[in-house]
Amino acid sequence: MEQKLRALEEQAKQDVNEAQSTDALEKVRVKYLGKKGELTQVLRGMGSLSAEERPIVGKIANVVRESIEKSLDQAKLHIKNIEMTAKLEAEAIDVTMPGKETKIGRKHPLSQGLDELKDIFISMGFKVAEGPEVETVYYNFDALNAAQNHPSRDMRDTFYINDDVILRTQTSPVQVRVMEKMKPPIRIISPGRCFRNDTPDATHSPMFHQLEGLVVDKGITLADLKGTLEVFVKKFLGDHTQIKFRPHHFPFTEPSAEIDATCFKCNGDGCPFCKKSGWIELLGAGMVHPNVLKNVGIDPEVYSGFAFGMGIDRLVMLKYGIDDIRLLFENDMRFLNQF
Ligand code: PHE
Repeated sequence: MEQKLRALEEQAKQDVNEAQSTDALEKVRVKYLGKKGELTQVLRGMGSLSAEERPIVGKIANVVRESIEKSLDQAKLHIKNIEMTAKLEAEAIDVTMPGKETKIGRKHPLSQGLDELKDIFISMGFKVAEGPEVETVYYNFDALNAAQNHPSRDMRDTFYINDDVILRTQTSPVQVRVMEKMKPPIRIISPGRCFRNDTPDATHSPMFHQLEGLVVDKGITLADLKGTLEVFVKKFLGDHTQIKFRPHHFPFTEPSAEIDATCFKCNGDGCPFCKKSGWIELLGAGMVHPNVLKNVGIDPEVYSGFAFGMGIDRLVMLKYGIDDIRLLFENDMRFLNQF
């Protein structure tokens, strides 16, 4: 019996030495000292021993158990140390390694242009108003005094959701929405997306952006419109820029005009950019039509106003020298990173 125990002790210590991890050690412990462990089995067999032998063997068994436990504890400490060192080494950070490059984005040229436009008009006392992109025929056409047979109502020009609902073709419906809610004096701009049933090419996109302007108060005249646009154009395109009014027609303004600016490339001399004319078409504008004022319950005998609308995409293209509107919407980083 004693020999059996000693052999067991030897075997156990060898197993302990061979164990490489905490897990392996635990297996060794269970193998010898666990409920069904080998030492436990031996101790169970002690019932068959004689009364003299029992205490002697019991003593040896205890010594053997303690000895196994002790070597298990020592090995455990040793292995923990090794495992900790390995973990620390694996997690070490090499502070000399070059960092990962973080790419910082930038504002889209359209957003940059819009920010600039907003700053200019806000500095002149305008507030920013917004309206829906999915609009009713009433706000987009009827309330804006567009005749029932006006060509822009045609399905070939306008995206219809149903007979009464469309994607707005201009930001002008915001004029009506603002006048319904606000009492004069009114001084707002309204930038946003517009939609027209156009085939995309270098100057057309079925989705584009406009910026609307509206001023309504007592005693507003064409001179106020001219002064406002002159300040705007000089700030946006440069101090030397001049503008001219060309007669035009819009259903919701009377009189109406298209406004051209002297070409900022040749200063009005004529160059390929302005097709030798010296002028560049900028925006549409006019005095708010009395019918539009009546439609929103503002008395045209007391109040008058002016409105203007410009293509933001077009202005940004002019300013940054972009020759194809589609570039603005393709989101090619090689293009966008240039601005
Ligand atoms: N809404 C007109 C257009 O899309 C522009 C405009 C706005 C003209 C306001 C006059 C007054 O062409």
